[in-house]
Amino acid sequence: MSRQQGPLDLSLLRGSVAVVTGAGNNGIGWGICKHAAGLGMHVVAMDLHENLVRSAESRLRQQFPGVECLGISCDVTRPETMEAAHRQIRSHFPDAPIGAVFANAGVIFNHTILHSTLDEWSTTMNVNVLGVVNTLRAFVPSLREQQSPSIVCTTASIGGLVRGDGGAAAYQASKHAVVALTEALSFELAARSPQVRVHVLCPCIVSSALTRSSQINARIQQGDLDAGVVEPADTGSSEFAQTTERHARQAFDLIAAGKFYMITDNVRPYVDHDFPFDGMAIVRERFENMMDLELDNSDAMQPADAGPPSSILKGPMFAEMKRRRKERSQTQK
Ligand SMILES: NC(=O)c1ccc[n+]([C@@H]2O[C@H](COP(=O)([O-])OP(=O)(O)OC[C@H]3O[C@@H](n4cnc5c(N)ncnc54)[C@H](O)[C@@H]3O)[C@@H](O)[C@H]2O)c1
Repeated sequence: MSRQQGPLDLSLLRGSVAVVTGAGNNGIGWGICKHAAGLGMHVVAMDLHENLVRSAESRLRQQFPGVECLGISCDVTRPETMEAAHRQIRSHFPDAPIGAVFANAGVIFNHTILHSTLDEWSTTMNVNVLGVVNTLRAFVPSLREQQSPSIVCTTASIGGLVRGDGGAAAYQASKHAVVALTEALSFELAARSPQVRVHVLCPCIVSSALTRSSQINARIQQGDLDAGVVEPADTGSSEFAQTTERHARQAFDLIAAGKFYMITDNVRPYVDHDFPFDGMAIVRERFENMMDLELDNSDAMQPADAGPPSSILKGPMFAEMKRRRKERSQTQK
C-alpha cells in the first residue's frame, strides 16, 4: 500500500522554502523556523505585526547566513493577506519550490463556555480554524502543482484529540476542528497529489507565551494597544515544558518517520526529565469512553490542588508538579 505519509528523507527539503505562520513570538513557530533553516531550507516567518516579523527575519539571517529568510506580516483570518503573502513568496524565491507550510498561528482564552465572551469565541474560531483554512487555500494549490515532495502541517493540540475539559472549551473545539479538517485534507490529496504530505501537529506542553500573545493581540484589535510597541514575547522557563528548539526537533523527527498524528509529548530525548504529559493515555481514555457510549466526567468532581479539576492535566507531569509543590510548601513551614 502506498501511503501519503511514508518516511521522508529531510535532506530532500534543502533549498526549498518553509512557510511558518505564528512565528513571531518565540514559540512553536519560531522553533520550527530555526529547525527548517538548520536543514538548509529558506524560511518565511509570518505573524500579525510588522515588528515581530522584522525581528524574526533579522535574527534568522544572523543565525543562518547560508539561507535566505524573509518576514511577512499577515493576518491569517484575512484570505487576501494570505494570498498576497503567497504572491510575495513566489516572487522573492522564483526558483525555489515551497517545501513546507506550517499553519501554526493560534490563540487561547481560558474561560468557561458561560464566561467566554462572544468575541473570544469568534476570535478563537477565526484564527484557529479559518486561519488554518485560509493558509491551506493560499498555499496548497502551488504544492499540488509541484512534483517535488512537500509538507503541509497544521498545528492542532493534544487538546484536539482528548475529551473537552472545563475551562478551555472554545480552544479545544477549535483544535478538534483542526484535527478533522487536516484528516480531510489528507484524504483529498492522497490519491491525486501524494507528493504533498499532510500532518497534524498535536503538542502537549511547550514553552511559549500563547496566553499572553492572545491577550496582547486582542487588546490591539480592540484599539487599547498600539501594534508598534509589541515586542517578540519572553516565553519564560518552565520546569517540565519542552523548549521550542527540542519541540521542533521532535516534530521534524515525526515528519521524517511519516507520522500523521504528530503527538509531541514531553519525553526523552526531547526533555531532560521522566515526567511525560502522556497524551496517548488520555487520548485512549476518550476512545474508551466512546466505545462505552459514555462520557466519564468524574474527574470534574475531584478537588484539585491547583487549577481547575481536569481530565487532561493529570498525567505523570502534573502528579510530579503537585508532589514538588507539596514538598516546597512543607519545607517553607
Ligand atoms: N505551547 C503549547 O504548549 C501548545 C500546546 C498545544 C498547541 N499549541 C499551539 O501551537 C501554536 C503556536 O502557539 P505557541 O504556543 O507557540 O504560542 P505563540 O504565541 O508563540 O504563537 C501563536 C502566534 O500566532 C500569532 N497569531 C495570532 N493571531 C494571528 C493572526 N490572526 N494572524 C497571524 N498570526 C496570528 C500570534 O501573534 C503568535 O505569535 C498555536 O496554534 C497553539 O494553539 C501550543
